Amino acid sequence: MKKKIGIKGVILAGGKGTRLSPLTKATNKILLPVYNKPMIYYPIENLVRAGVENIIIVSAREHAGNFINLLGSGKEFGAKIEYTVQEEPKGIAHALSIAEDFVDGDNVILNLGDNIILDDVSEEVRKFRGGATIFLKKVDSPSAFGVPVFRGKEIVAIEEKPKRPKSHYAVTGLYIYDNTVFEKIRTLKPSKRNEIEITDLNNLYIKDGTLRYAYLKKEWSDAGTFDSLFETSKMMRDIAKRQKRG
Ligand code: TTP
Repeated sequence: MKKKIGIKGVILAGGKGTRLSPLTKATNKILLPVYNKPMIYYPIENLVRAGVENIIIVSAREHAGNFINLLGSGKEFGAKIEYTVQEEPKGIAHALSIAEDFVDGDNVILNLGDNIILDDVSEEVRKFRGGATIFLKKVDSPSAFGVPVFRGKEIVAIEEKPKRPKSHYAVTGLYIYDNTVFEKIRTLKPSKRNEIEITDLNNLYIKDGTLRYAYLKKEWSDAGTFDSLFETSKMMRDIAKRQKRG
């Protein structure tokens, strides 16, 4: 009998974290505090809220032990957490490919460890029928991100960090892929900065005609710079205070 296709979660916690040096000299970016929690709590909470039970953390060798110490089996989060290592930071799509055996034929939802997402995306996970779903957010300076190029309502390309962005949207660090993702990653060549790029991967889904998108409605943050880390901490403090006041 064919097994029913489920969904597995992947959180990326590798990378160099150069923009946050020296904070990242002795520890991993995703272990740094965002107000009152380690950064990695947010992607875990996001995936659990989306109904994902099995999650793998991909980290660099030197930090893997810290993630196990912090998160253990995942019991406190209502998830089953496993761990694996990316020996070298060869790019986001490369880090995802390391999770292929863990994903084991299922669909996969990828959350970059430094992306704080507060929306409930369980409906998008439930509706997912194949291809890829990306999540967009309107931002003031899209040049720092992958930026979609629209023709009408359709995305016809994604440009990585364009000097002259063709829309006001950023492609955020949350993606749902079907299992063809691993075959697709194998066809990608390293970019000029010698990384296997997530934007190249998403462009392959556009070529296939199977890339869909949804908008994030709540606050979104990529906490990878001093300013965004600081602003995200302030934002989470404001939200916590609002919730306390009821
Ligand atoms: P980035 O912020 O693009 O890269 P980085 O974390 O190395 O930071 P910097 O640019 O300041 O050097 O990475 C986004 C997320 O993806 C982050 O959570 C780390 C993760 N990542 C990996 O797991 N492996 C990789 O090879 C890369 C490049 C990133």
